[in-house]
Amino acid sequence: MKRINLNKLMRPHIRKISPEIRRDLDACAILDGTENMFGYSPKIRDLIHIDTRLNIAPDPSCRELKASLQKYHQVSYGKLFVGNGAIDVVDHFFRIFLQPGDNVIIPSPTYPVLNFEVDVNFGTLKKIELEKDFYLNPTKIINAIDQNTKIILLVNPQNPTGNIIPKRDIAKIAQAAYSKGVLLVIDEVYAEYARENNIELIDEYNNVFIIRSFSKAFGLAGLRVGYGLGSEELIKLLKKRPPLKISRVSQLAAKYALEDADHFYKLRDQIDSEKTWLHGELNNLDGVKAYMTRTNFLIAKFPAKRFRERLEILAKNRIFVKNLCKFPLLKHHVRIGIGTRKQNELFLKELKKLV
Ligand SMILES: Cc1ncc(COP(=O)(O)O)c(C=O)c1O
Repeated sequence: MKRINLNKLMRPHIRKISPEIRRDLDACAILDGTENMFGYSPKIRDLIHIDTRLNIAPDPSCRELKASLQKYHQVSYGKLFVGNGAIDVVDHFFRIFLQPGDNVIIPSPTYPVLNFEVDVNFGTLKKIELEKDFYLNPTKIINAIDQNTKIILLVNPQNPTGNIIPKRDIAKIAQAAYSKGVLLVIDEVYAEYARENNIELIDEYNNVFIIRSFSKAFGLAGLRVGYGLGSEELIKLLKKRPPLKISRVSQLAAKYALEDADHFYKLRDQIDSEKTWLHGELNNLDGVKAYMTRTNFLIAKFPAKRFRERLEILAKNRIFVKNLCKFPLLKHHVRIGIGTRKQNELFLKELKKLV
């Protein structure tokens, strides 16, 4: 093969980024992710047969899906933006606003892909560490704002810690962002599980953008649909992008998921009771401390001794939990997605052999 130096042609700031993560998607218990392991509305199952027009391009404006979102959130059409999963919405938002030299304030630990998005979109990341009890100190965020800050990005409920940022603290940060002319993005992809959100802020501030997803609550992580809510003024700016991003099937499935939201509400009760049960079982194990969360995952501290080896043994048995050791605050912690009772029992059975 004739070869040129491709590496040299690459945008230099991309070189340092690590390649994609591999996951064993056929494992017995893939509890290292945060998807809804209980599935999606049965109304979605026959979708491919219902939408027989796959030869026709999708609606670039996602009008039918937005009509359902309007009802679900009681917001007007012009306040909605749809993307190819929440992460595409983040990526697009950053692409529209970030210039080299701008910084983005993100509390840490967080979902690492958010940091990646700052990097690929020429931003500089300004990490603000959570307190020992995972509390996000709003004053630390506000004090970190400088003349190069373009965006503050909060995740609420937070991932991987699973706790919620109190509304009064978000209100303080929103007020500060407004007075300093900074954009405030709140990634609320787990909000359905928390039964709490901050969407009302989009009517108070034109600089607040809320991001949601069909991956976590509605069980459609495989289809990639996310969306954002903001002032009409803000959403108008986001419309500058290539069309046809969200497939016909994805738009239709998301619409059906909202129409059958009751299906999710029932699953949510089941997930909550599984979470309470698993939390209790974990705390009964010697040396394990599990924390309660407002999400569909738990976080737990395992004994320091043989920590890595234990996770390796679990993985050999094709049971995966997320190792959070790379975050200094979360040494010897793992994140455990709430699986079905069968998956959770399997995980506990193997874990009990190890602690
Ligand atoms: C905080 C956060 N934001 C965004 C995402 C990605 O969501 P989506 O599947 O809609 O792109 C995740 C997924 O783990 C997440 O934890």
